Amino acid sequence: MSPAQPDGQPWDLRGVLLPQLAEASADRPLSIYVHIPFCQVRCGYCDFNTYTVGFGPGADRVSYDSSALAEMRLAARILSDAQMPARPASSIFFGGGTPTLLDPAALARLLEGIRQNFGIAPGAEVTVEANPESVDEAVLESLREAGFTRVSFGMQSAVPTVLRTLDRRHDPTKLPGLVLAARQLGLDVSVDLIYGAPGESLQDWEVSLREAIAMEPDHISAYALVIEEGTKMGAQVARGELPMPDPDDEASKYEIADRLLGEAGYVWYEISNFARRESGEEGPSTQLRHASKHNLAYWRDWDWWGFGPGAHSHVGRYRWWNVKHPSAYAQRVTQGFSPAQAGEILDAQTREMERVLLAVRTSEGVDAPRAGAERDTFLQALPTLASEGLIESAPAAQGRAIVTLQGRLLADYVTRCLLGY
Ligand SMILES: C[S@@+](CC[C@H](N)C(=O)[O-])C[C@H]1O[C@@H](n2cnc3c(N)ncnc32)[C@H](O)[C@@H]1O
Ligand code: SF4
Repeated sequence: MSPAQPDGQPWDLRGVLLPQLAEASADRPLSIYVHIPFCQVRCGYCDFNTYTVGFGPGADRVSYDSSALAEMRLAARILSDAQMPARPASSIFFGGGTPTLLDPAALARLLEGIRQNFGIAPGAEVTVEANPESVDEAVLESLREAGFTRVSFGMQSAVPTVLRTLDRRHDPTKLPGLVLAARQLGLDVSVDLIYGAPGESLQDWEVSLREAIAMEPDHISAYALVIEEGTKMGAQVARGELPMPDPDDEASKYEIADRLLGEAGYVWYEISNFARRESGEEGPSTQLRHASKHNLAYWRDWDWWGFGPGAHSHVGRYRWWNVKHPSAYAQRVTQGFSPAQAGEILDAQTREMERVLLAVRTSEGVDAPRAGAERDTFLQALPTLASEGLIESAPAAQGRAIVTLQGRLLADYVTRCLLGY
């Protein structure tokens, strides 16, 4: 289960990238994502590509690393054949699914595979997502020793009834100890929160935020619950058993998050992401020590290779995505074929549009497209958006859109105005 991949065009079975379209450049950093497609149970709201069972050799929890390692070897060859200069990974993210369902030794082998095939840049951010119920101090220590520098805990809420609605299994009282252990090990710590679950009151949300802040993580992500079609929760909402999240309630919760996190020293650098500002630390919030480099790589349209079933990759003008099922994936990579299912070659207009879509969500904001009708549309929208209080006035006068708090609440509308649709 989880939604279908986009259509795209069929992909070369060897995964060949042409140098002129891969846009070889040593200046554009390379980021790496490793997808771990397994979970203990399926949370009712989640539509990520993840499975609670294994599918045999190369596609189960004990042997999956061998498949991802095979894709890494293939990727290194493809990039070298495309005449890409060697670029050690500047950020790495192990996500899921539940990466911590794999043995830490398997996660260490995967990280070693990245080191051997691509190299890891000095000071690279190396994150692993961890579900609180699947880690303990010993696991955290092994991950630290293997070279992970950052752990992102799926906290979601501190309120037991909300956790139950979300089908989360962890005991919220265990998380503070885990966060403390991770910090004492020298890991950077992030926690993910979700707001807007059916039945969650404003007070529940405030409790979750205060509990998260009390753990003093370096970074907090706060996501509005999205009701995804094809999920258990999507069906419950469709049948009227659960209410659809109320946009006004979600807006109030975002405002509470912005206020409480701001008071506690966390600064927004992307709509859903807040980094702790160290004392004496200055400069734009996207450059804060604790702002996720990996997140920023996506938003800046740099190159990234996503390993694993269903993972998406982007190199120069290429974008492609892998087959979704773990056994189809394992079969392809063990036979030496690319696991790419399909992809597309991005034209300048699409890239420009995506640049606006992503950058508008960051505190850096977004400049007008360089030329064409898109530039005119963008520039014409600025004065109105500024007068509506949705973007800051001074940067708007210089052709740049930086969303205000009000604009963050209406980011989709701001984007539509800037792109003219
Ligand atoms: C896909 S999960 C993977 C990490 C880990 N398995 C976990 O659940 O904590 C990554 C994050 O995506 C967010 N997420 C997943 N589904 C979501 C949804 N439908 N709406 C909002 N956020 C969601 C959650 O905050 C979660 O921590
Ligand atoms: S544990 Fe995370 S990835 Fe797995 S189903 Fe729940 S939200 Fe999705």
